[in-house]
Amino acid sequence: MNEPPAQFRAPVGTHDVLAPQSALWEGLIGTFATLAYRYGFSLVLNPLFEDVGVFNRGIGEASEVATKEMYVFTDRGNRTLALRPEGTASVVRAFVQHQPPTPWKAWYVTPAFRYERPQAGRYRQHHQLGVEALGTDDPAADVEVIALAWRFYEAIGLRRVRLLVNSMGHDECRGRYVELLKAHLAANESALCDEHRETWSMNPLRVLDCKRAACRAVTEAGPMLPGHLCADCRAHFERVADGLKGLGIASTLEPRLVRGFDYYTRTTFEFVADALDSAQNAIGGGGRYDKLAEQLGGPATSGIGFGSGIERLLLAREAEGALEPLLDRTPDVFVVDTTGTDVATRYADALRLAGLAVQRAYDNRSMKAQMKVADRSGARFAVLVGPAELAAAQVTIRDLRSEDHDQTQRSVAHDELVATMLDLVKK
Ligand code: HAM
Repeated sequence: MNEPPAQFRAPVGTHDVLAPQSALWEGLIGTFATLAYRYGFSLVLNPLFEDVGVFNRGIGEASEVATKEMYVFTDRGNRTLALRPEGTASVVRAFVQHQPPTPWKAWYVTPAFRYERPQAGRYRQHHQLGVEALGTDDPAADVEVIALAWRFYEAIGLRRVRLLVNSMGHDECRGRYVELLKAHLAANESALCDEHRETWSMNPLRVLDCKRAACRAVTEAGPMLPGHLCADCRAHFERVADGLKGLGIASTLEPRLVRGFDYYTRTTFEFVADALDSAQNAIGGGGRYDKLAEQLGGPATSGIGFGSGIERLLLAREAEGALEPLLDRTPDVFVVDTTGTDVATRYADALRLAGLAVQRAYDNRSMKAQMKVADRSGARFAVLVGPAELAAAQVTIRDLRSEDHDQTQRSVAHDELVATMLDLVKK
C-alpha cells in the first residue's frame, strides 16, 4: 500500500488566515486604506526581498533586527538577498530609485519576516500596515503621521492605547549623549544585568530599554537623552508635543524608548495596548529617519513613518472585547436551484451585476442539502427555483432570518427578481 503523503503545516511562527477571521483583516486593511487616503498617502508596493544591504547598511551600531533576525539567502545568481524584516528601508530604497516629487507620502500593507522566538503576538512572518512621508522635516508631518495612527486605532475600536514619545536627537547631540551614557555605564558596569555587563559597549542605548531591575537601577541614576538634546532638536520635539496636544492626543514622554532600528533621528514613538501582556503590547511604532535616504545612496531627504502589526491589533481588539466586524462579508442572497439547469448561474449573475453578494450551491444536490449550505452561509435571503417555478417563470424568495417561512416567503416573476431583491436588501 502507498504511504499517505506527509502532512505539511505552515512553518513555525507563521499562520494561515481563513474566513471568517480573514474578514477582520479585510476590515483593518480597508479602514487603514481609507484613512491613509484622507491623510494624503498613496499605496506603494515593493518586493518582499531586497539586496541585503538595504536592511543591513553596514554603518554605525547595526540594528538588532538586521543583525540577529533577518532571513538572508543567496539566489541562483549568487546575489545575497534578504526577506524584508520591515517596510521602511524598502520604501526609502524605492524613493531613492524613482525620485518622486516631494513630499512623497506612501502607505503599505506587507508581510515582514523576522527569525524570532515565536510566542503569542510574536511571529516569524507578521504583517504590517504603515506609512512613510519623505521630503520634509516639518514637525507638522510628525504630528500628522502620529495622528493618523491614533485615529486608526480609534476607528477600529481600540480604547486602551497609550502613546509614548521620545527624541533620539540628531547625529551630533545623540553622539554627545552616547559618550555621557558610556561613561556612566563604564563606571557602573558591575551593577548591570548579566547580559549587558558583557555587551553594553556594543550598543549602549539598548541598556536603556532593558527591563531587568539591575540595569533599571543603573540607568535611572544616569543621563537621559531628552535632557541632552541640542536647541534645534529640543524645539522640534516641543512642536511635536504641542501639535499632538492641539489635536487632543495625549502622549507620555518615555526617555527609555529606544527602538530596534539604527536609522531613527529626532522623534520616535510607540503605541502600547494596555489590554495586552506587556512583553508584546507594542501595537505600532515609528519615528523620523532623516539620514536613511542618504545612507541608501540618495539625496539628503528627511522622512518619518510608522508601522503597526496587524496580528497584534487583532489581539488587542480581542482583549478589549472590540472585535465587532468593520465590514460585513456575509452574502445577501443564496440561490437554491433544483431544476438541473443553468438557471442559478443566470440569476446569480444578474443579482451580482446589480451589486449584490450572491452565493449558490453546485452539483445539483437535493433541496435539503442546498438549504443547509444556504443557512450556513449566513445569507439573509434565499432565492429558490425548482421545476414548478421554472415552468411558471417564477422564483420564491425566503427570508432566512425569519422563523415563519409561510408568512415571509413570497413568489415573484423571474424578471422582477433583481428589483425585488434590491428593495429587500436595502431594508
Ligand atoms: P517595529 O516597531 O519593529 O517598527 O514594528 C512595527 C510593529 O510591527 C510593532 O509595533 C508590532 O506591532 C509589529 N511587530 C513587529 N515585530 C513583530 C513580530 N515578530 N510579530 C508580530 N508583530 C510584530 C518597524 O518595523 C518600522 N519599520 C516602523 C517605522 C515605519 N518606522 C518608521 N517608519
